[in-house]
Order: sequence, then structure tokens, then C-alpha cells
Amino acid sequence: MENNINTRFTSAFEEDVYNGLTSYPKHLSSKYFYDKKGDKLFQDIMNLPEYYLTNCEYNILATNTQKIAEAFAGPNGFDLIELGAGDGKKTKLLLRYLIDKKINFDYLPVDISQNALDELEGSLKKELPTVSVKTQQGTYLKTLERLSDYNSRKKVILVLGSNIGNLLHEDAIDFLKKIQDAMSPDDMLFMGFDQKKNPQTILDAYNDPTGVTEAFNKNVLERINNELDGNFDLNSFFHWETYNPETGTAKSFLISREKQAVTINNLDLTVNFEAWESIHTEISQKYDDMIVEWLASQADLKVTDSFTDEKDFYKNYIFRKK
Ligand code: AVJ
Repeated sequence: MENNINTRFTSAFEEDVYNGLTSYPKHLSSKYFYDKKGDKLFQDIMNLPEYYLTNCEYNILATNTQKIAEAFAGPNGFDLIELGAGDGKKTKLLLRYLIDKKINFDYLPVDISQNALDELEGSLKKELPTVSVKTQQGTYLKTLERLSDYNSRKKVILVLGSNIGNLLHEDAIDFLKKIQDAMSPDDMLFMGFDQKKNPQTILDAYNDPTGVTEAFNKNVLERINNELDGNFDLNSFFHWETYNPETGTAKSFLISREKQAVTINNLDLTVNFEAWESIHTEISQKYDDMIVEWLASQADLKVTDSFTDEKDFYKNYIFRKK
């Protein structure tokens, strides 16, 4: 075992699945939700009435477009780098305004999903053909290493959708530090953070009665079946959501209804489940101003402005280097 631990994996997915399912308690990373099917399921989630995050952020950007665009603009134009661009529905509000005002900028959307980037590029060609777009496929980490290549003029880094919420605070600080490190004094970070609110509202957002969120969660099992020759019976697992109002952490689990063994051929692995045993799959952290300011200060950033919706469900913050 010890000897071939480095040679038995042919991808990060294999290694992460092996490590997560041989740990106790079991876990799998939410970054593996996103393939073609997972992207589509996430789009369906964004259209759910319970999933307030998308509408709140859309409204914040729609209401404050001018103020935000003016904060972005630089004397020689700017590079707009979006991490986790997805379908770009919210960003297009800003892009349209910037184009209308003839502000000079390049749009550099980054996403883990090549499929999402292709669709985004296609839709921009149709809807906003004059935007200069350069897509980049990759994880946040790899992209951050390339960020400082964009240093010839002001850059604005955009992270929408409360995507940072998938990270534990320690990892979020790491992520912010790497961004901070790549920033010049005039650069800006514009980021969305879902806020603490009535716990029921949060649970409902991750527990839709139509089962879209459940299917999204289970997509990681489906990927193991398809890509690693596994035999998960998806019906013998169900989705479970928790929210801890003290820490602001929402967690997703898949729970085995019964004692069972699952085999994953490509990993030469049999995974035993007790009845009611869980696999932790995602965290969706909720924030308030105090936590955001603490995260920022830990990363040598400061909050210089913020925008919220009328219910204070969601907030977008502007950060600069301290
Ligand atoms: C895209 C990570 C922000 O955590 O709210 C939606 C993903 N998971 N429903 C979130 C998600 C379940 C989403 N993020």
C-alpha cells in the first residue's frame, strides 16, 4: 500500500475520491459537482425560487451598476478578471453598462468548467459582440498563479455568487492572500458574500422540494460511477442539509439509507457504509460584516465599499490592498 500510494492515481479526482471515501467521517469535494450535467443542475438551482442568492446579487448589480462601474474604471482602462464566471448572467449587467459608456476593458472569465466557458463565450458573441473576451479554464489556484501576468494596467478581480462560501475560513484567507499578493495598489477585488439570516431561509435554499439540489449533490456519485467505474446506487442515498447559526456554516451531506458496500473498480476499492452513515459534500458559509472584515484583515486587505439588497440577504464588497 505505502509503496504504490503515489502511482495508483491517474488524476486528482481519483486521489481525492480515494482519500475522501477511506476517511472517517467520509467526505467528497463539491468542486466535483461541476461537469456538463452538474453545470446544468446548478443553472436550474439558480432559477429556483428558494435559491435567493442569485436574484439578490442580480438586483444589487442592477441597482448599483453605475457606482460599481465607476469604481472599476481606470485611467488606461482595466482588465476584468472573473473567477468562477459560470453563465455570466449577472456580470453581463456590468459588461453592458461598460460597453455603453465606452469604457476600455478586457473581460477574462475563468472557470473550472470548459463547457461553461464555451457557452459564455458563445452567448457574449451574440449579446455583446464588442466585448473583448479571453477565457481561461482552470482551478482558482492555478489561475491565481497567472494573475500577476496582468500588471500592465489596473485589474479588477470579480468573484460573484458567494463562491468563496465553499471554503473553510482558513482556506478562504489563503485564497484572499493569494489574490492580495497579485494585486497592485490601484487594483480592486469585488466579491459577493451571502449573509447570515433566518436559518429557515437558508435551509430552504439548499433543500428545494423539487429535488434539484439533491440531484446536484448526487452528481458527484454519478461522476464516480461514470468516470471511475463505480456502482453507487443513487436511490440508496439521500441529501441532507444542516445550518449552524452560531458558525454560519451550511453543510450538505449524502446519507446512506442502509448498510451497503460500493465498489469503485478504477480505484480497486470497496467502500463500506453503515446504515445512516454520511458523506459530507459541501459547505456554503454565511457571513456578516464582522467576519468579512476579519477575513480581509487576515489577508492584508481592507473593505472600501459595500452594496446590499433591501432585505440585507446578500452583500457585495469592494476590497483594496491595506
Ligand atoms: C456556487 C458554491 C455558491 O454554495 O450556494 C447551490 C453551490 N450548492 N446549492 C452555494 C450550491 C447547493 C453554491 N455556490
